[in-house]
Amino acid sequence: MNDPNGMVYHNGTYHLFFQHNPDSTVWGPMHWGHATSQDLVHWEEQPIALYPDSLGTIFSGSAVVDKDNTAGFGNDALVAIFTHHNHAIEQEKTGLHQYQSLAYSTDEGKTWTKYEGNPVLPNPGIWDFRDPKVMWHEGSGKWVMTLATKQSITFYGSPNLKDWTRLSEFGESIGAHGGVWECPDLISFDDQGKKIWVLIVNLNPGAPNGGSGGQYFVGDFDGTTFRPYDTDIRWLDFGRDNYAGVTWSNTGERRIFIGWMNNWDYANVVPTNPWRSATTLPRELGVEKVNGKWYLIAQPVAELSAITTAMRDLAKVDGGEDVSLKTTVGKLPETYRLDFTYPADSDFKITLKNDTGEWVAFGYVAAERQFFIDRTQSGDVSFSDKFASRDSAPRISGEPVIRASLWVDVASIEVFADNGLTAMTTTFFPTQVYDDIVLQGQSGAAFADVNLYRISR
Ligand code: FRU
Repeated sequence: MNDPNGMVYHNGTYHLFFQHNPDSTVWGPMHWGHATSQDLVHWEEQPIALYPDSLGTIFSGSAVVDKDNTAGFGNDALVAIFTHHNHAIEQEKTGLHQYQSLAYSTDEGKTWTKYEGNPVLPNPGIWDFRDPKVMWHEGSGKWVMTLATKQSITFYGSPNLKDWTRLSEFGESIGAHGGVWECPDLISFDDQGKKIWVLIVNLNPGAPNGGSGGQYFVGDFDGTTFRPYDTDIRWLDFGRDNYAGVTWSNTGERRIFIGWMNNWDYANVVPTNPWRSATTLPRELGVEKVNGKWYLIAQPVAELSAITTAMRDLAKVDGGEDVSLKTTVGKLPETYRLDFTYPADSDFKITLKNDTGEWVAFGYVAAERQFFIDRTQSGDVSFSDKFASRDSAPRISGEPVIRASLWVDVASIEVFADNGLTAMTTTFFPTQVYDDIVLQGQSGAAFADVNLYRISR
């Protein structure tokens, strides 16, 4: 798999579609795979939802619930809006090979019918013209499509999902432009009755630590134009492995995000078999103001408490010497979560390790105000010279105490620091699970509120 697609909540079910090549573990003719969940935690894979057809393979896109039957497919129809990628036209190098199409389902997402009038948005001559994210814009009473158009975002409007009018374009001389812009999302948050709009723009390459990553802009959207409050470049995640993430549609005030836990730098060669790639944890997004500027915050969704069990409350762990949790608590389970606080004027390092000398570390360098994840010795790093890395993330918060939560799976760590103002998501491929954590603080400083949780399946 690669990108998550078409995420929509409907009648108690979370639908998650995804870029999927059923015949290989490397990228190829794209389909929409499908999975469903009642709680965002336990997922069941469903039959493939969308197959390639005469118009092309099925690239990324979104899905909505058409409550008022604006498209005429039926009340409450699920409508998927996706990019058709035509490989034959691509050979002709006209730049016209990507265009937007519809499919709909009137049986809760079980079966899908492609709209006979496809494509609904033909290509005007833009080589990269893809990944439509559609939402209903209450203020102007219409559907708004946020589309990646090379290195900008173009907004389109429609009364019925079928007829689209160009509204505006955003992105020239603002933001990061190290690569092509892909998989955007436009979401809003309520701030005491005022809407704060966030425009997520994934790009590849050009992420701060290399390869694929997600930037975002905060500002106003009036139904036609997005106007950022400032020109700062902000990043959703500073780890190497959170790409193409977008949010669920039809979840009311909740903004639930999931990303692809991989990076195009090495996505086709990571050493897993017979599968390749996974998603991040589902995350609840919010906004927080720091020094007068708005930032996104991300936290694993509260539903994960269903599989999280308190294992050990270690309270305080003094700095000055290395403390191994394998020694004090015993071997760690395969999947776990570690929470703690630590004074922001001192350095710390938390090392996950196994008995073969493989390790990955998350830490903080106070003088630089930087978090880091080091996976240079994490296990198999031989499959790509872009994999072994030490990646940094600026601390955004100015609070005197750092609060962090580390979610560890057998091949990944997801770090949420300072209420999720800084997130880092990173994969690794050790030969054995990391069944030990070593805490290293500076003498005179201490880890506090140290809690270890078991994550079950
Ligand atoms: C991002 C992306 C999208 C595209 C899809 C193709 O990872 O390149 O822009 O729609 O993957 O699989």
